Amino acid sequence: MGFKDYNRHNILTKQYPHTFHHLKRFLSISFFLSLWLLLLYFFRLSSTATTTTTATATAVPSQINGPDSPPTQPIKKCDPLIAKFYVHDIPPKFNSDILRDCHHLNIYTDMCPHVLNRGLGRPIEANPPGPGGPRSWFSTQQFLSEMIFHARLESHPCRTWDPSQARLFYLPFYAGLYASSRFREKDIHVRDSLAVDFDEHLSRLDTWRESKARGEDHFIAIGRTAWDFMRSENLAEDIGGNRLLKLPRVGNMTVLTVERQPWSGAHQRGVPYPSYFHPATSDEMLAWMDIVGRAERPYLFSFVGGPRKGLEKAAVRDSILTQCAGSGRCLRVKCDPGSSACHDPVRVLDVMTRSEFCMQPPGDSFTRRSIFDSITAGCIPVFFNQHTAYTQYEWYFPAEPSQYSVYLTGDKANVIEDELLKIPREKVVEMRKAVIDLIPSITYFHPNATDFRFHDAVDVALMGLTKLVSSTSRHVVA
Ligand SMILES: *[C@@H]1O[C@H](CO)[C@@H](O)[C@H](O)[C@H]1NC(C)=O
Ligand SMILES: *[C@@H]1O[C@H](CO)[C@@H](O)[C@H](O)[C@H]1NC(C)=O
Repeated sequence: MGFKDYNRHNILTKQYPHTFHHLKRFLSISFFLSLWLLLLYFFRLSSTATTTTTATATAVPSQINGPDSPPTQPIKKCDPLIAKFYVHDIPPKFNSDILRDCHHLNIYTDMCPHVLNRGLGRPIEANPPGPGGPRSWFSTQQFLSEMIFHARLESHPCRTWDPSQARLFYLPFYAGLYASSRFREKDIHVRDSLAVDFDEHLSRLDTWRESKARGEDHFIAIGRTAWDFMRSENLAEDIGGNRLLKLPRVGNMTVLTVERQPWSGAHQRGVPYPSYFHPATSDEMLAWMDIVGRAERPYLFSFVGGPRKGLEKAAVRDSILTQCAGSGRCLRVKCDPGSSACHDPVRVLDVMTRSEFCMQPPGDSFTRRSIFDSITAGCIPVFFNQHTAYTQYEWYFPAEPSQYSVYLTGDKANVIEDELLKIPREKVVEMRKAVIDLIPSITYFHPNATDFRFHDAVDVALMGLTKLVSSTSRHVVA
């Protein structure tokens, strides 16, 4: 059973029969609900029975349904698929002190509203797009997964306070916020100084020196792309980044990043950009999956984005913009410089829930936050470059790209509408179901969420890290 298959919540998605007409849908939902009530009833019966007859714990291990289905009970205990991890208490200059200067963390954006709520940002008070309301929907900024990871890991059931019990070690360094605050620093020694301090800090940790996995069991999560931490030796190519990921020790850690460097990023693992939905309960997640599963999608395709000047890999954007403007079946949100339309969560999700396919061309870098907004909206992503998703998020997406996405290159990218219309109806329905199945695993749950029967983006990363250290330590022993 492939690792990714574990996250396909097949049982839960049987309730989304997109092809059925309303009556059938109603009947199947009622059927599912009755089944659910029955199950709840039996669980109650069996746990009462166990407590009265035996003194043993009654927790149902999550594997009881086989690896193909989600745990049936809220994940309150540490899932056996996730190794115990330790959160290193590192000096505040690596995290909380950075936030104090939130007005100056990014040369384009005042980050103060975005770092609120542990990186979720401001709640969406007016017209939240779905269930849970402003408690679960936030205007989350795209580069803040590093803060959200930190918050989630602090209250995660697999956290241990005893390093000798841990197999994974997390260091909460807000390296992305640090990097973007220094993009205009001309003196590269000053620009690199905190990164160098961090590398030295690692050398002083017992768990690092005694690492059973050559450092791979120590990890950081960075909210920006790896490119910002791999400054070239050739200063003519300097775009403001630092050398964090090229430092001798950090280079041997596992680095979770929203975009890995596909050629030399062996220790880098892709994790989702955060979208806007941060539910606190499974019911909110299920209700949202139901909404996007039933959404009317009058538009064949949509594009939320703007042109990019002088970037070879982004040339396809011009073609998409032209094709979209010339088609009656395409919906477009213009991202003119300075316009906020593309950052309005309600607008973006509305467009994506009304479209069958969402265009995901590369931009300044290969990946886009928009990939995860479109999955959240149940819109099938269309990719134009291998490195936008296929070489990035192996822990999250099915190994077979055609299960959940469309890949258009060469001439096909010039006839988007024709290519999409060629896909049989049944195949579209099947792909959308696969996309909706992915929603929980690419979502960052609210850090205070307690009632969860799904694995979220952080859980999936922890499961991936667990597999990684399991294979590395076996290798070392052998
Ligand atoms: C989580 O709950 C605590 C305690 O109620 C609260 O102080 C904190 O603000 C909550 N976290 C978020 C991100 O809302
Ligand atoms: C990083 O890993 C390589 C290969 O395992 C090893 O040779 C090197 O000494 C390590 N660097 C540090 C600083 O641990």
